[in-house]
Amino acid sequence: MAVTTKEFSLNHLAIIMDGNGRWAQKSGLPRVAGHQQGVETVIQIVDECVSQGIHFLSLFAFSSENWGRPREEVDALMGLLLQFLSSQRQRMLDDGVRLRVIGDLTRLSEPIQKALANAEKETSQGQNLTLILALSYGGRDEIMRAAQKIAQSALDGDLDINKLDNKTFSSFLDTGDIPEPDLLIRTSGEVRISNFLLWQTAYSEFYFTDVLWPDFNAAELRKALDDYRRRKRRFGLTDDQLEDL
Ligand code: IPE
Ligand code: IPE
Ligand code: MG
Repeated sequence: MAVTTKEFSLNHLAIIMDGNGRWAQKSGLPRVAGHQQGVETVIQIVDECVSQGIHFLSLFAFSSENWGRPREEVDALMGLLLQFLSSQRQRMLDDGVRLRVIGDLTRLSEPIQKALANAEKETSQGQNLTLILALSYGGRDEIMRAAQKIAQSALDGDLDINKLDNKTFSSFLDTGDIPEPDLLIRTSGEVRISNFLLWQTAYSEFYFTDVLWPDFNAAELRKALDDYRRRKRRFGLTDDQLEDL
């Protein structure tokens, strides 16, 4: 696939992929059919992000709260994840896509942990797009785990707690070396964050669409990007200050 790098100030796009179940129910299909179709959307959106020259794409694939769903649905989602990793392996390598995973991976089964670690390793040289899958992920859980690591580091004498600042705190998050999202998209009409990237989205732009994730596509993504480009990000400053910058 040809990679065209456009002039573009969107470095990191994050997406809450929502509405798979409703998409399936609308057509009288089991919820899992919605998740299957949702994977097709993922493939299309990754491709479009590479074409758009976006460097980081974070996808909320499975939340810490989603563990509470019926066992069959959780199992089906894990199956789709394994299938995705094997079916997309070559494509990721060809397109320079590097896979990263965030979340409490210890709750995932051993075969899945292994497949993820393997995919991260195999794709580690990818230069075009870093695809961050949030799995067994909750923003509060991530912040709490970071706080534990920070406390341990202070106890070990490696960290001076008086020198703890935003930057150091961020480095203990799962997203440690990943820049903050510029734009967060949520599909399916829900207008909430549902525990995704709580710390990192402090100054992200938000875009909500009624389109259900299985119906989302490259054209819908371009609409969101156009909307984003028309916005003015102020980061707490005044317009005059921003012009001086
Ligand atoms: C998003 O779709 C996928 C996951 C949360 C895993 P949903 O499964 O939440 O679909 P709805 O919101 O029930 O329609
Ligand atoms: C958020 O969707 C989690 C993912 C997209 C993986 P949910 O469907 O779980 O969120 P709520 O329950 O509607 O807030
Ligand atoms: Mg949902």
